[in-house]
Amino acid sequence: MDLLSSFPMLASFPFLLFLIWCAHLVFFKARSTPREPPCAGFAAPKCYPLVGNLPHFINNCDRFLEWTTELLVASPTGTVTVAPFVFTANPSNVEHMLKANFDNYPKGGDVVSALHDFLGRGIFISNGEQWKAQRRAASFEFNTKSLRAFVFDRVRHEAADRLVPLLRQASRDGQVLDLQELFDRFAFDNIISLVFDQDADCLRRGNKEGERFFRAFHKAAHLSVDRMKLPHPLVWKLKRWLDTEDERRLRESTAVVHEFVDKYVRLKRSGGCTSSGGDLLSRFAEDGTRTDEFLRDFLLSVVLAGSDTTPAAITWFFYVLSSKPDVVDHIREELRLVRARRCEPGGEAFTLEELREMNYLHAAIAESLRLHPAVPLLPRVCAADDEMPDGTRVRRGWTVMYNSYAMGRAEVIWGKDCGEYKPERWLEVGVFQARSAFQYPVFHAGPRMCLGKEMAVIQMKAITASILEGFDMELAEQRGKHDLSISMRMDGGLPMRFRERRGR
Ligand code: HEM
Repeated sequence: MDLLSSFPMLASFPFLLFLIWCAHLVFFKARSTPREPPCAGFAAPKCYPLVGNLPHFINNCDRFLEWTTELLVASPTGTVTVAPFVFTANPSNVEHMLKANFDNYPKGGDVVSALHDFLGRGIFISNGEQWKAQRRAASFEFNTKSLRAFVFDRVRHEAADRLVPLLRQASRDGQVLDLQELFDRFAFDNIISLVFDQDADCLRRGNKEGERFFRAFHKAAHLSVDRMKLPHPLVWKLKRWLDTEDERRLRESTAVVHEFVDKYVRLKRSGGCTSSGGDLLSRFAEDGTRTDEFLRDFLLSVVLAGSDTTPAAITWFFYVLSSKPDVVDHIREELRLVRARRCEPGGEAFTLEELREMNYLHAAIAESLRLHPAVPLLPRVCAADDEMPDGTRVRRGWTVMYNSYAMGRAEVIWGKDCGEYKPERWLEVGVFQARSAFQYPVFHAGPRMCLGKEMAVIQMKAITASILEGFDMELAEQRGKHDLSISMRMDGGLPMRFRERRGR
């Protein structure tokens, strides 16, 4: 049982913290609220005496994404200040914070400290020199052909030898499957083989150690992110000190996660590891100056970055496809043409080159991510007073958040049909054309752009091709509500029925 609810005295503690937060806001406001540049026809949320903008945050805490999107759609500049927050969907501002004035917008201390127990000082939550050193080494490895081939080999095996048989069985049994959970497990198997060259076998639940790691990892990740949802970091710090139930569960699951990673780092160092040498751990451990702690922190960040986003993205993609039979037909036609171009019969699964040829499939995935970005809101903290290209003034210590969800639905960026799902908008003479990352920051942009973008797209293509070629599918229950955690997941999962396609 939670300590806070066990003692009447402590039960009033959240109220005390609430007051501290109010004081914090009042201080912020008194110290630093600048005047908003006036915008005709647009009223930024009202700032109240004493409590500042607190009532807006309380009113909208369970619809934060929708609320900020509504504000941004109404704003003529695509930016809204609700001090001490600035929300933006303006590509020039995004370019300013992610590239032009990059050093002035590091990851915030609250985010870093909430994730520190779990992720240490890994690339995902570090700044400055600590981040630069990891980024340099990781960029080099992620760009090697051998790492890409290594990853693709594992994806292909997972799709053809595990996912397809599982769906075949479900089709025979008339079983409903939660695709979101299936993709979580698929992605976890992939990332564990990329990072450690170990077979977690989560998709088939075939490995006890892999299953334990999978569960502990997700629990630790979600509980760490839950810390950020509290009104002030003092709250979780106090809860950690009191050892409340959620903090105890976070501590225990983090211990399981660290134990797993430490074991494989030790084995690698002692030469007792059975890996092929192509994985990230082997590549990073080659440099003897890197400490075990450095390896653990870096590798855990990569597992987190790659294990939550791709399943979220592909779940929304299959949700979109479930109501777009014309798009499904178009993708199948592309798969048929790619197969028809084969000079030799080849295997069941598509090769890397064949997947790269699939321009329409790429466009269909990019279009789904435009409307349903896996990371819809991303915060940075302003290090020194600044002015954005659209004239918005930002004070030191304020949080600036760009909203890719609102940007994906902005008429100024995508035109009048911005609300429609149209893969064709990404094609020119049948060839996929990427957009500026500052207009479409679903994989982030600038020096901290996602390192796994290409891997994620290939993984999504491989999964979609295997499923659509072999199976018809239908939604078993209506879905479509967001669940915002590490990434934008689908509330309640995505239950689907599959029927094997015969004589295709
Ligand atoms: C559809 C799938 C994916 C999406 C939408 C996505 C999106 C993003 C975004 C928005 C960021 C910036 C996060 C931040 O700064 O807070 C990021 C960073 C990162 N991503 Fe991805 N990602 C995806 C898949 C992957 C995969 C599969 C991997 C690894 C194999 C990966 C590795 C990374 C890493 C290491 C970073 C940190 C880069 C840095 O801070 O320098 N991502 N990703």
